[in-house]
Amino acid sequence: MGFTSKPFSEQVAIVTGGGSGIGRAFTEALASAGAKVVIASRRSDVLRRAADEINATLATERVFPYEFDIRDRAKIEALVNDVFARWQTIDVLINNSGLAVPETVEEITDEGWDTVMETNLRGVMQLMRAVLPHMRRNDFGDIVNVSSQAGKHGYADVPSYCASKFGLLGYAEALRDHVRKTGANIRVFNFCPGLVDVEITRTGQAAREGFIHVANLARTLMYALSLDRNVVLEDINLYTR
Ligand SMILES: NC(=O)c1ccc[n+]([C@@H]2O[C@H](COP(=O)([O-])OP(=O)(O)OC[C@H]3O[C@@H](n4cnc5c(N)ncnc54)[C@H](OP(=O)(O)O)[C@@H]3O)[C@@H](O)[C@H]2O)c1
Repeated sequence: MGFTSKPFSEQVAIVTGGGSGIGRAFTEALASAGAKVVIASRRSDVLRRAADEINATLATERVFPYEFDIRDRAKIEALVNDVFARWQTIDVLINNSGLAVPETVEEITDEGWDTVMETNLRGVMQLMRAVLPHMRRNDFGDIVNVSSQAGKHGYADVPSYCASKFGLLGYAEALRDHVRKTGANIRVFNFCPGLVDVEITRTGQAAREGFIHVANLARTLMYALSLDRNVVLEDINLYTR
């Protein structure tokens, strides 16, 4: 097992929730560097628009929309099978899809809890389980999990979200230990950002007070991925000053 590198122009990425917010910023950065990026989530109109806009800017087709629901195991497996069948590789997986249901510990409903856990945690596990054999076979992969400041600290208004994001970090550590033990050329990165502005996203515009401009996440992603194959910037905590 080696530490072989691979140019972005030969890489294929899947970014869940890549049509909006942080996922879209990651998608733009990867596609600008030359990677093919499959953006996957439920809203096909949002995905289509993002892909069209980015492809028009780059004057080439690098972003491919794929409608899927991370709560649906069959859709997860179809996504992975379709991407692998088309390009015979999945080099980068960005587990970015996520949501919060704001219910305090006293208000929490089983439905709210399940929605958060199935989206932010179970879906990631199922997607990982489907992607990992392909990365192992090609002996190349970068996995990026978008956790949160709420994966490190508890907040009274979103206990289920905190549990899912803490859980995501625990799962990622186990995954990292697994790939290390198997000697695979696979790296696992976690982003734990504070509040990110997903409304004011243009370059040059200032983010709202107390929020991180989303471009900082994209720049950090590309920096992290650019490190030597045997180096992992494990947990990336990004907060405003
Ligand atoms: N913004 C922040 O301040 C902040 C801070 C820390 C961490 N985060 C995390 O960053 C990630 C991205 O969030 P964002 O802030 O960029 O907000 P966002 O634009 O709302 O992104 C969330 C994405 O998740 C997708 N998604 C939700 N449910 C899904 C499902 N069942 N199946 C597939 N995709 C689904 C959504 O797409 P569809 O609706 O099309 O399915 C959407 O693109 C999330 O994991 C969030 O927890 C955000």
